[in-house]
Amino acid sequence: NAPLRVAIAGLGTVGAGTVRLLQDHADLITARCGRPVEITAVCARDRTRDRGCDLSGIAWFDDPVAMAREGGADVVVEVIGGTSGAARDTVEAALASGCSVVTANKALLAVHGLDLARAAEQAGAHLAYEAAVAGGIPIIKALREGLAGNRVRRIYGILNGTCNYILTTMQETGRGFDDVLGEAQRLGYAEADPSFDVDGVDAAHKLAILTSLAFGRPVDFPAVSIEGIRRVDAMDIAFADALGYRIKLLGVAEDTEHGVLQRVHPCLVPKGGSIASVDGVYNAVVMEGDHAGRSMLEGRGAGAGPTASAVVADIMDLTCGRTAPAFGVSVDDLRQGPSAPIETH
Ligand code: NDP
Ligand code: HSE
Repeated sequence: NAPLRVAIAGLGTVGAGTVRLLQDHADLITARCGRPVEITAVCARDRTRDRGCDLSGIAWFDDPVAMAREGGADVVVEVIGGTSGAARDTVEAALASGCSVVTANKALLAVHGLDLARAAEQAGAHLAYEAAVAGGIPIIKALREGLAGNRVRRIYGILNGTCNYILTTMQETGRGFDDVLGEAQRLGYAEADPSFDVDGVDAAHKLAILTSLAFGRPVDFPAVSIEGIRRVDAMDIAFADALGYRIKLLGVAEDTEHGVLQRVHPCLVPKGGSIASVDGVYNAVVMEGDHAGRSMLEGRGAGAGPTASAVVADIMDLTCGRTAPAFGVSVDDLRQGPSAPIETH
């Protein structure tokens, strides 16, 4: 059977992790999909850097847009990052040439997701992004497929691994904010610009994507009320602890009588509850369906292995022909409706 040809734009934490996983589990993937996945091309800026994976026999491109156009791939994986420039141009070029796209780039999806989903539909291609929300947790599949028969009332949880790592490590060790943030960066958890993590923007990007899927509405990132963890200090954590709470950065989206409300901010959660015990780089997402009731998924929210796991799941879906509209229904069928007014906290 003919292989599915994959080109990978970006060879950092996620891109190199994806190459390693595809190579380590090549036999398993072929057996499960009925045909192999072949990496035909890769692209990054620095040709000389050791990526910790075997790139022999794979075409190297310096320009990801040229790779998307000329790389001869069936699927382009975009793991560069950012909402404009190389990432956006690469995804648009791939879709325009009828190539499906797998991306981990939640910022791009939160800002341009609707246009990209429309471009995919018009080209008869697919846009898949399991890795964009909550790392290794299969939350996109859970919402789009597992809860397909429910009306979702509310969805909330810990959506940023870096912030949870910082809050947990400060609590457990008494170390300072900047010191722990530096460690999260070295571990490959943080965004290229870590202010996206600590100011709550990354969690808000993810929440906007989940809200679209959960409530069948266009992605509305500007409607998210956002407050990050920059002002949380050791004293706050100690007082919370004394009162019986943990501090967690939560994203919450709910269908209210005033419209859909989306907010990201630090919350006091009672010790002993399921969210309070989610530590380190772990994320957790709670979904409340009208028939399923409450379900919670927990897992590693960032890092090479968990994120590559989600990227490869999308690649395998495309290899097997398991496809779905990006936001659950076609773009024209997403329900327009008011967003609840932005709240301040
Ligand atoms: P990195 O910074 O580690 O990697 C980015 C890669 O993109 C690098 O290989 C870089 O090349 C390449 N790149 C950047 N600009 C260009 C360009 N103009 N042309 C060609 N290549 C370019 O990022 P991550 O792997 O951490 O993240 C990638 C994406 O995945 C982001 O959207 C991020 O938000 C998302 N994500 C990350 C997670 C994580 O845990 N790290 C988890 C979930 C999603 P070079 O190496 O040569 O500099
Ligand atoms: N910087 C992100 C986080 C990566 O820490 O959660 C995973 O999306």
